[in-house]
Amino acid sequence: MELVNSMMKTLNQWSRKIHRWLALPFALMVIALLLARDTSVGMALQRVQPPIMLAMVLTGGYLFLLPYLSKMQRGRRTAANARQRTDAVTGRSELRSMREAEKTR
Ligand code: HEM
Repeated sequence: MELVNSMMKTLNQWSRKIHRWLALPFALMVIALLLARDTSVGMALQRVQPPIMLAMVLTGGYLFLLPYLSKMQRGRRTAANARQRTDAVTGRSELRSMREAEKTR
């Protein structure tokens, strides 16, 4: 679980970094596209636009989903912790490990 969490953290940081650093060239490209529409520069820009746009949409979409994903993760963690605590208080965890031991016998 620790590995998944640290991988998620790296992915979150990188998607934000990529989104932020592509924002400036993307904005400049849109302006240049409007100004140089019918020139050879415009044609070349039209070819590089789709991959940059795709990267913005994918990283932006991921950033949009992030709060909901972390809420889901937090909810699952809280439920698991609560179950562990109740099991410890009610002795259910011991019962469960006895049953597991019986199964493996
Ligand atoms: C194409 C679809 C796009 C989507 C779905 C999208 C979505 C998002 C989302 C959800 C965030 C995070 C907001 C938050 O943290 O609350 C964000 C941040 C940001 N977006 Fe976009 N965005 C898109 C395109 C763009 C474009 C075209 C630009 C600029 C040219 C841009 C510039 C930025 C910047 C500068 C941030 C702040 C990044 C940071 O936290 O360092 N985005 N975007």
